[in-house]
Amino acid sequence: MNVLIIGSGGREYSIGLALHKDPKVSKIYFAPGNGMSDTLGENISLDSYEALADFAKAKTIDLTIVGPEAPLVEGVVDIFKAEGLTIFGPSKDAARLEGSKIFMKNFLKKYHVPTAKYIETDDFAKASDFIDTLSAPMVVKADGLCAGKGVIIAQSRDEAKEAAKDMLSGESFGDAGKAIIVEEYLDGYELSVFAICDGKDYKVLPAAQDHKRLLDGDQGPNTGGMGAYAPTPLIDDLLYAKINERIIEPTLKGMQEEGMPYEGVLFIGIMVVDGEPKVLEYNVRFGDPECEILMPLIESSVFDLFYKAATKDLGTLDIRIADKYAVGVVLASKDYPYKSSVPAEIIVDEIVHEELKEKAHISWAGVTKEDGKLFATGGRVLVCVGVGESIREARDLAYMMTGQVHFAGKKFRKDIAYQALRDA
Ligand code: AMP
Ligand code: GLY
Repeated sequence: MNVLIIGSGGREYSIGLALHKDPKVSKIYFAPGNGMSDTLGENISLDSYEALADFAKAKTIDLTIVGPEAPLVEGVVDIFKAEGLTIFGPSKDAARLEGSKIFMKNFLKKYHVPTAKYIETDDFAKASDFIDTLSAPMVVKADGLCAGKGVIIAQSRDEAKEAAKDMLSGESFGDAGKAIIVEEYLDGYELSVFAICDGKDYKVLPAAQDHKRLLDGDQGPNTGGMGAYAPTPLIDDLLYAKINERIIEPTLKGMQEEGMPYEGVLFIGIMVVDGEPKVLEYNVRFGDPECEILMPLIESSVFDLFYKAATKDLGTLDIRIADKYAVGVVLASKDYPYKSSVPAEIIVDEIVHEELKEKAHISWAGVTKEDGKLFATGGRVLVCVGVGESIREARDLAYMMTGQVHFAGKKFRKDIAYQALRDA
């Protein structure tokens, strides 16, 4: 089978790595890929979704997988499907679950999916009145995509009003903030749950925890994610059952009723408040770095999982998940997440330690190859992944791997998986 993967990050690399090991897959193309994805397949560079669809036809691509949200929100799935191509991901309409927070919140309300109490508005006076009914902290969110920056946790009513005013005036996020959500603050712990969906059926992957803040102890600015681990012990069968019954199933049913059955991966950001799961947000793609740690935990064919989801056949799939743990530690460049850094050459020591060779690997992200040398050119450069019998073993392997990789300005968190290990 021939596969095309759209995207260039560590997420797409990790999907490629899993497919590379799958005997069903013969050739992988990345569009555009990164400086290491060409070791798994071929990087191609095309400048429109139409051109990509033409390429997929010409190369008899059996399955296209879309990594990032932007192509989904822009309708790449609709373009491919109109050409009779098989593609994994939601339609442009369904991608609004991530593309518009107002669409998502109104959908959750309509289908009684638990979430924070909120209002949506484009009117400052209304936002201000609602803020007066809440006690601090409270949350103000821009409606549209803001590269993960459109959420303000305000510590006072005045701060919330200021954030609302700046968003509505277009000052903070341009058009993406011209309509907003104001909502109550949920106090609990966060989980990332991923459901692979075919419109009707779904398969839930092991729940993960991300580490969004730059520094140890969840300090410093928000990032795309500095590390993740799965499965997390912060979830049990009862909580999985609540998530399935109260969140995933009504969402899939609701999307069918809305005439936009949800196909692809549904990434549910959940806050667990007193044992009850509530939806913080939906994303219509895999998390990064969550994808990098989930792919190695799937024992059954990863190709089948994506292919059956894309062909509405998940009901016949028996997914097997390893009885193991995975931990991923992101190595970021010097000035991440503030600005781009000067490219730095990457040196990886030869790995002689047998266990490390067997149980750990690197998922490459912001890297470029030039004259046979590898350079760190992105904010998040790579993820060191360890897979072990316990979270501790997986964590130790991932950290051992961080010691094998060198580049000027390399930085990473030292406490990935601390929430799972602090009581152990
Ligand atoms: P979002 O992009 O909506 O997931 O928000 C980004 C982050 O802000 C989440 O991962 C949470 O840590 C935090 N957050 C968002 N909404 C809330 C809320 N209602 N209560 C508490 N924290 C929130
Ligand atoms: N790691 C969180 C995200 O991909 O949104």
